[in-house]
Amino acid sequence: MILSIESSCDDSSLALTRIEDARLLYHIKLSQDEAHSSYGGIVPEIASRLHAKRLPEILKSVKTFLNNDMSALKAIAVTTRPGLSVTLIEGLMMAKALALSLSIPLICVNHLKGHIYSLFIERTKDSKDSKSGRESSLDSHISPRDTSPRAHQDSQPKHELSAESRQDLSIESKRDVTPDSNAPLPSPLLNPESCLPLAVLLVSGGHTQILQMNDFCHIRLVAQSLDDSFGESFDKVAKHLDLGYPGGPVIDRLAREFALAHPTALPHSFPVPLLHKGELCFSFSGLKNAVRLAIESARESAESARESTQKLHSESTAKSTESTHADSKISQKSALSPYEVGRICAGFQKSACEHITRKVRQYFMSEQAREARHFAIVGGASANSALRESLACLCAEFGKTLLLAPLEFCADNAAMIGRVGVEQYRRGDFTPLHEAQITPKSLPSDFV
Ligand code: KG4
Ligand code: ZN
Repeated sequence: MILSIESSCDDSSLALTRIEDARLLYHIKLSQDEAHSSYGGIVPEIASRLHAKRLPEILKSVKTFLNNDMSALKAIAVTTRPGLSVTLIEGLMMAKALALSLSIPLICVNHLKGHIYSLFIERTKDSKDSKSGRESSLDSHISPRDTSPRAHQDSQPKHELSAESRQDLSIESKRDVTPDSNAPLPSPLLNPESCLPLAVLLVSGGHTQILQMNDFCHIRLVAQSLDDSFGESFDKVAKHLDLGYPGGPVIDRLAREFALAHPTALPHSFPVPLLHKGELCFSFSGLKNAVRLAIESARESAESARESTQKLHSESTAKSTESTHADSKISQKSALSPYEVGRICAGFQKSACEHITRKVRQYFMSEQAREARHFAIVGGASANSALRESLACLCAEFGKTLLLAPLEFCADNAAMIGRVGVEQYRRGDFTPLHEAQITPKSLPSDFV
């Protein structure tokens, strides 16, 4: 089996994947969302420090799973690019130390390829329905920075164990399943070859790209964002609205709730990026700024409305200086009403998704896309319900089969790195330890 390590951003994750059939045997991941939430984005130093603390703790749990016998490991796969240098290096250091001490080869994996291979993660049959149970011994080693109930929840390891594994080792599985009953079911594909050439939309916190995979070694970059990524624009809008990090899931939810609660209300209207531009590319910075301006203007309106009410109130009643002071302190924050926040979230998400859908349509109409019968959406932001819905309709219109990764493997995880690791192992694609290094961007040879 292969031990894989992912630390390209804010998720510390390890997985074990069987080489023979590429099945996922064990998966564990600790997210850092809570640690970065108050900053509205990833703080690289915090992320790096948390990886340094948590990766060894997770490794302990893997060792327990293996009964402290690491002899079954045939290679170590690790994300070496693209990502944050200070976090990638934590994973690579651990990978090198393990490869050296166990005398097994090292496999350097491109994180973006990992996202594509999240489509092909296969677990043992009954692991899918395993629900949370008793926490593993690892938990006692974790001391979350924030002790609020949510922080604790986010800091719990997410295990993926096969039924046999659970029996053997009495560690019960805990899974982080995002409810999304309307999303199409992921296709249970074990063999990536069967859906080549594959057209891919990769939407994450760092990337928005259309890729075309002709085979494992030939992935062509067809289009990408000129500025911010799709996921990043959600994070920034959420930051402006004080919704915490990551912004994608919360904006997705608020937009859905707005539509349900106000079926006849129109979302805030925002321009669709690059609407009249013919180039096949993406852009989100203009939309993000339009949303920021709308938020500022809505805050100003809320502020003046509040001031007028206060003025009327203080004129009609002899208010104490103390309470006036308290009121003005509250008004400084100029909080928007939940209705207004929902309207802005719904409008922003609508424009962002329409932009992507229009550009994917443009791609589908091109000669190069014609041969790809399968279309996949991958990356953390591929969990977006509106994007899934809209692209599912587009695929139906163009006769493409839509592939989606299981929700728990959309965001960063080591299982997808292990899946690519198996492919590279089969091809003998190893990197000598002294040559292995991290790079913040993909290598030119990664995409041809
Ligand atoms: O792939 P990922 O875990 O990390 C990177 O490789 O960047 O993606 C994380 C990104 C974050 O920007 C997060 O806000 C976004 O994915 N995201 C979403 C949703 N869920 C996560 N964006 C939009 N809608 C969602 N439901
Ligand atoms: Zn990612």
